[in-house]
Amino acid sequence: MAWQKRIKNGTIVTGDATRKADIYIQDGRIAAITAKTLEGDIEEDIDASGQYVFPGFIDTHIHSRDPGASHKEDFAHSTRAAAAGGVTTVIEMPNTNPPVNNTENMEKQKAHLGRQAAVDFALWGICLGHLNEKDIPPLDDAGVAAFKFFWGYAVHAETYQLMYNYKPGMESVIPPFHDGEVYSMMKNVASTGRIFAVHAENNDLIQTLTGGVEAEGGRTYEDLLRGRPALAEVMTVQAGIDMARETGVRLHILHVSAGESVRRIRRAQQEGLPITVETCPHYLFLSAEDYDTVGPQMKVYPPVKHRSDQEEIWRGIADGTISHVCSDHAPHTPEEKDGSLWDIPAGMCGVETLVPLMLQAVTDGKITLNDCARLLSENPARLFGLDPKKGTLTAGADADITIVDMNKTGTIDREKLHSKGKVTAYDGRNITGWPQMTIVRGRTIMKDGRVESGTEGYGEWFAPPGRGGSVYGR
Ligand code: DOR
Ligand code: ZN
Repeated sequence: MAWQKRIKNGTIVTGDATRKADIYIQDGRIAAITAKTLEGDIEEDIDASGQYVFPGFIDTHIHSRDPGASHKEDFAHSTRAAAAGGVTTVIEMPNTNPPVNNTENMEKQKAHLGRQAAVDFALWGICLGHLNEKDIPPLDDAGVAAFKFFWGYAVHAETYQLMYNYKPGMESVIPPFHDGEVYSMMKNVASTGRIFAVHAENNDLIQTLTGGVEAEGGRTYEDLLRGRPALAEVMTVQAGIDMARETGVRLHILHVSAGESVRRIRRAQQEGLPITVETCPHYLFLSAEDYDTVGPQMKVYPPVKHRSDQEEIWRGIADGTISHVCSDHAPHTPEEKDGSLWDIPAGMCGVETLVPLMLQAVTDGKITLNDCARLLSENPARLFGLDPKKGTLTAGADADITIVDMNKTGTIDREKLHSKGKVTAYDGRNITGWPQMTIVRGRTIMKDGRVESGTEGYGEWFAPPGRGGSVYGR
């Protein structure tokens, strides 16, 4: 017997256990996890003494803008950034141009992204109401991971990018859908068994409140929040919960930003409804109170809210209301982001800083290493049906592994990010605990912070083996 790789002397971390064992890899898969020494030659022996060995981290929410807005980012860059940040699998958002709105475009996207990918990937499908109602079951059959709906948003009719500053009457837009149509979309997606994931913000309320703030000449961060308050998210979350109860859809709330939303979702889960919620590092590590020091780089939608919201979101992490943490990687060019708070687009890089920030939370004693395995690997895999291929350290699974050094210190440096559009709210932040090695299907893609050359196109698209199930509670 000859082994492709062995990872020895490391401490293996899963959601519920931490133990010393070695991992033997064969043909890109995990062959054995054992404290015994197995017979056979080893092509590459990796010594992980003093380090932690995790199931490869998964980022379920990235916008690589490719094709469509590849001056901001492309898949070669975003997946190198993923590898640099210890992420072995990404799920790519569907609002590209063309969007992933039907199986023909999905096939094109698989091929287009596959030529560039450094890590493995699955694809989101987009829900555009009556415009692609008939395409939802075929997209399900074709193996999208889940369906995304921008609730309360207009998207550009040609580019499918989010309209960051939408006003009714604008041309070339698909305006926000009415509630009845949202209900129909939920029914349609419910019939597939896949997740219906929503960006939740109430457009009517935002139009009225933002109009009022603008008329007064308000332009500060607090003014932005007065125009897009927690209530805008809470109203949509609550409508979603009530419609999900009727339609039976597996509703997933994307990037939760308001404490009250977390409380409503917790209650819905206590009722037994299949409703899940994710959050992102910006809602955990930033609050409105940081705006004076961080500035417009931290503009995202839904906007980062107050410290009391941040505290409730951490409580949602602690009690399992929140299934997982992902980046909402949404790069823009530094020029686009370098304007007034009001006019610039929302979004920033995230895929490369997701894991370091969560490891810093371990260092700070906010979460445990096991929580990291749960929040960044196991739960996302279970929710979207990626397991047992991804997100688990078990024999037969893909050998997707992230090795972490909790003693390594360093600083997030915007200039060193691997993304095209180098925009981050964390420039200069000191971090203790870094991903040290990223292994995808047995191949080392990142070592000691450096992404290996020749990895472009190694990453593969895959259909999730299952449809997953609701993940919440501890
Ligand atoms: O701030 C954001 N930017 N939030 C989103 O949901 C989308 C993203 C983007 O695509 O720019
Ligand atoms: Zn997003």
